[in-house]
Amino acid sequence: MRRPTLLILAHPRSDSLTAQVADRLRLRIEEEGGTVDLLDLYAEDFDPRLTPVDEPDWEDREKSYSPEVHAHMDRITAADDILVVFPVWWFAPPAVIKGWIDRVWNYGFAYGRSKPRLAGKRMLWLGLAGGTDADYEKTGLATAMDVQLRVGVSEFCGITESSVRLLHDTELSGVPRALRSARVGDVLKAADAALDEHLPH
Ligand SMILES: Cc1cc2nc3c(=O)[nH]c(=O)nc-3n(C[C@H](O)[C@H](O)[C@H](O)COP(=O)(O)O)c2cc1C
Repeated sequence: MRRPTLLILAHPRSDSLTAQVADRLRLRIEEEGGTVDLLDLYAEDFDPRLTPVDEPDWEDREKSYSPEVHAHMDRITAADDILVVFPVWWFAPPAVIKGWIDRVWNYGFAYGRSKPRLAGKRMLWLGLAGGTDADYEKTGLATAMDVQLRVGVSEFCGITESSVRLLHDTELSGVPRALRSARVGDVLKAADAALDEHLPH
């Protein structure tokens, strides 16, 4: 039996489309008999700022970091699958995710071992993007985000089964109210497909 999925959510509003996607995926995983550890970075008031206690010491990969960081490391260790659901802000995840990586995916834990401790886990980065698929392909930003997150974070930390998937056209503020629920339905369906394709249960 697989161990829990660590589902990371990064959005300041609990009624956001991003939060709805995370909720849908949590329900899907649970309906299929899996378990989910929801890490809602805003709701848990995660502080993304790296302070000296969590700064890597390149001469000591056994360094003790802050208790908060060790608690987050334990949640990653306990999971087989890591699913990160986020809105794309400036063609990248929000700063709270960057800070979570900076602080928690630390030297001696996520990297810096001859046998990477995170090897064997699976990871899906699921971003909600206001822009179109065509724009992302044309500008190279789809490739940039893929390389940054899949290669620069997951693979760097030994997670070879990893993908970045973007759900496009997710900015609904200009969409007439009558059409919004259909658009939300389309986004949720695309999220389902991404889950089935990249983290099948
Ligand atoms: C600060 C900020 C920066 C954004 N930058 C981008 C961007 O670089 N590329 C993009 O496609 N959409 C961008 N957007 C649009 C968001 O991706 C879009 O509003 C979001 O996916 C909608 O989901 P939500 O209702 O859950 O926020 C940005 C939105 C905000 C608030």
